[in-house]
Amino acid sequence: MTKRVLTGINTTGTLHIGNYVGAIRPAIRDSRNPDVQSFFFLADLHALIKCQDPARIERSRRQIAATWLAAGLDPDKVVFYRQSDIPEIPTLNWLLTCCTAKGQMNRAHAYKAATDAAVEAGRDPDSDVTMGLYCYPILMAADILMFNADEVPVGHDQLQHLEMARSDVEVLPGLDGRKMSKSYNNVIPLFEGGRKALDEAVSRIVTDSKLPGEPKDPNSNSLCVLYAAFSTPEELEAFKNELRAGLGWGEAKKRLADKIDAEIGPMRQRYEELMASPETVEAILQEGARKARAYAVPFLARLKEAVGLRAFTIPVENAAQEKTVKQTKALFKQYREKDGLFYFKLTMNGRELLLSEGFASGRDAGQWVGRIKTGGYAALEGAPVQRTEGVTDD
Ligand code: TRP
Repeated sequence: MTKRVLTGINTTGTLHIGNYVGAIRPAIRDSRNPDVQSFFFLADLHALIKCQDPARIERSRRQIAATWLAAGLDPDKVVFYRQSDIPEIPTLNWLLTCCTAKGQMNRAHAYKAATDAAVEAGRDPDSDVTMGLYCYPILMAADILMFNADEVPVGHDQLQHLEMARSDVEVLPGLDGRKMSKSYNNVIPLFEGGRKALDEAVSRIVTDSKLPGEPKDPNSNSLCVLYAAFSTPEELEAFKNELRAGLGWGEAKKRLADKIDAEIGPMRQRYEELMASPETVEAILQEGARKARAYAVPFLARLKEAVGLRAFTIPVENAAQEKTVKQTKALFKQYREKDGLFYFKLTMNGRELLLSEGFASGRDAGQWVGRIKTGGYAALEGAPVQRTEGVTDD
């Protein structure tokens, strides 16, 4: 059963190794799983909410696209696109905006954080709030619903926006031991600035002042957690033992930088090539947009039809009639295939929505049909079926 995984990457600024370890590396690893269909996109419409500097937006989109490709994302295996290249997304955003309660947006944490900060500074609560920020979660919902994603891996701060389960991500500590984050100014850059910037950042990791030869506590700072993200458990153990035996912090930092660079050094070279060849990246993203729109265009057409934004050539009565007919046309079909197994599927107006796995007996298939008919949507959880809607256009 293929699982559809989708994630967006805001394009403001550049990436650090916390983004790499926490998001990019696991996402690329998962995308190589043949049972996973991955959608990765540059959330450049979201970026405009936080950043109104066109040069920075432009640079960041290029850097982040090149980073994902350099880190091993295979654009032939995944759908990799820019949010702003899919005009159906803002349209879906509007359809959702029209049925979202304002109260729900009042409770969104990005909005609340902005109003809290303004109040604290003695200003009007809404003084720093644009409508983009206020409606941020709706655009995010449009991103996800457009492609009917099953799983959306994101950072903790985005959890409220999703209100759905996600796989755990690794959180990397920064130079000072707090979560690695641009806002704490404690990051190790991923590619920008080259090896020199990497060494320079690593040298700023905060340690105690024990001298070489003195036994060190390997857990007294973020050095070993960072080391762990780029090494095997055995290598990590050996590193810790050396610290306990007196390895100097300076030498330890050099080894950490070497370790990180062993993994990201070769990628950095590819990154620089991609940055020097914007037309290559542009072509990849255009192709990604084409693939994404193969889903988005027919889906939005159905949504527009559903809300009443129809061609005038469909008479109103007919459209209404058609709707009643349509609603009665959801059908379960049970059948036996050439492989001797029993299957069922659910179709609506001739369009396949669900397809079951094969069952050895027709009774088992029938029981599942019964359960789904009575339990509805909730009964699909764990059911041996594949949701095929939207994929049939392939
Ligand atoms: N808001 C997300 C972030 O800041 C990026 C994003 C935009 C996103 N749309 C999304 C993530 C949809 C997952 C799904 O990280």
